[in-house]
Amino acid sequence: MRYIVNFDSEKVENKVYDVVIIGSGIAGLYVALHINGNYRIAILCKRNLTDNNTSLAQGGVACSLNKEDSPSIHFNDTLEAGSRKNNPSAVKIFVEEARSNVLKLIDLGIEFDMDEKGELLSTGEGGHSRRRIIYSGGDSTGMNIHRGLLHAVQSLDNVTFFENTPVIDILTSQGRCYGVLAMKENSCFIVYARAVVVATGGCGNIYRNTTNTESSTCDGVAMARRCGCDIEDMEFVQFHPTALYSNRIKEKYGRFFLISEAVRGEGAVLRNSDGETFMYKYHEMKDLAPRDVVSRAIYNEMKKENSQNVFLDITHKSRHYLKNRFPSIFGICLEAGIDISKDMIPVVPVAHYMIGGMKTNFFGSTNVDYLFACGECADAGVHGANRLASNSLPESLVFSRRTAECINEAIEKRITEKKKMSFNENNDNNVVDWESIKNKIKNIMNDKVGIERNYKDLIFARDELYNIYKLVIRKDIGNVRKIEVKNMVSVALLIVESAINRSKSCGCHYRVG
Ligand code: SIN
Repeated sequence: MRYIVNFDSEKVENKVYDVVIIGSGIAGLYVALHINGNYRIAILCKRNLTDNNTSLAQGGVACSLNKEDSPSIHFNDTLEAGSRKNNPSAVKIFVEEARSNVLKLIDLGIEFDMDEKGELLSTGEGGHSRRRIIYSGGDSTGMNIHRGLLHAVQSLDNVTFFENTPVIDILTSQGRCYGVLAMKENSCFIVYARAVVVATGGCGNIYRNTTNTESSTCDGVAMARRCGCDIEDMEFVQFHPTALYSNRIKEKYGRFFLISEAVRGEGAVLRNSDGETFMYKYHEMKDLAPRDVVSRAIYNEMKKENSQNVFLDITHKSRHYLKNRFPSIFGICLEAGIDISKDMIPVVPVAHYMIGGMKTNFFGSTNVDYLFACGECADAGVHGANRLASNSLPESLVFSRRTAECINEAIEKRITEKKKMSFNENNDNNVVDWESIKNKIKNIMNDKVGIERNYKDLIFARDELYNIYKLVIRKDIGNVRKIEVKNMVSVALLIVESAINRSKSCGCHYRVG
């Protein structure tokens, strides 16, 4: 289906801007910050301004700033972690431009943690051969960056935010983008623009177990696909090795709470349920091996021992140190009844990051004219088959800025055109239970398209998802939950089809049959 709702541009209200940005995480905000001040920008977000995965990022920002480090060492680590599936030119741009963008954050007043001499502190994480991850507020890096960027963008006169305004579809005609169809208080309206930027983040919430916010339903990729945008690498869904295994916390926050890789960077070790370390059996970098290796190792240990989780042990550090270095992790674990200075932390791998997405060049352009993408929903080729830890925030900065610079030139000679468009298909009005369908999608993805995949499960998943797709796609949308379910099943199908097509294991796509 080209559009998921019937509409007629002559009959719905419209607004006119120069640039529409969908999403208010790091990518959306950083694009807005670099668009020329004479262009009027609308930032549309599905829920509120802070409901995004940027704000949840803990570990930090990977960037070669130390004397013992260099962009070329960061380049090699990124390729090694990515199973060399990365686009080397994209990685080169990324490692070389990360520094200037980090300095820009500092200029904006975003504070990174420093030692008593005023030098930036840095830590290690999986797959990094140097301690190059800078952080803010201990483990509140994402929240502090988001707060700083939001403050900067809110002070711009040319930007208008629309909260609780989900975008339903991208409007295109003959391979060219004209704006978006959005929804406010259950009625549709059009925002015409000279350029549209998709910065909608990832897909974690199509899995039952994830570190992502509940709104991470990958709407951007689903609607991009509907308008003919090329999508790639969707089989590479990254599982974070260490999410807190606590039903109490999962129920309270609606997601698994992340235990940052930086905890291992500061010396924590993984132990199985017999209390034995095990990473030495899987990789020479042991507990700081690349993320795909660690997730699989944990999965393997859990299967061998028939257990629900393994443990992360940082009890050799003092309570004082842990409380200061990891204030959020310390606090949430206490809420779960775990004093991390005395108790081992029960952890489990869960869905965390979408490596694939809308295929872009190095300036955020897609194959659809005037449609751009950046951040987690975009794929410029930096991450390969397995993203190096803490590369996502700086990758968003580098390519969002490039996207903005490209838009500034690209739309100079374009006027916003109020293109007449409509879509009308018969709706299927049978009642369905949207909540149970959503849970079914999440269960299929978790159980059949997880860390280890096999052909039989993937075919089962594809057939089940296709049945769900047929059931929901022609139904009237009515509210944001229904839009999300339609997008979730569309993206789940993209992941499964890509996973079927890649018969050999590579990075975080691991085939056992
Ligand atoms: C972490 O805090 O574990 C790193 C976050 C990430 O890169 O996903």
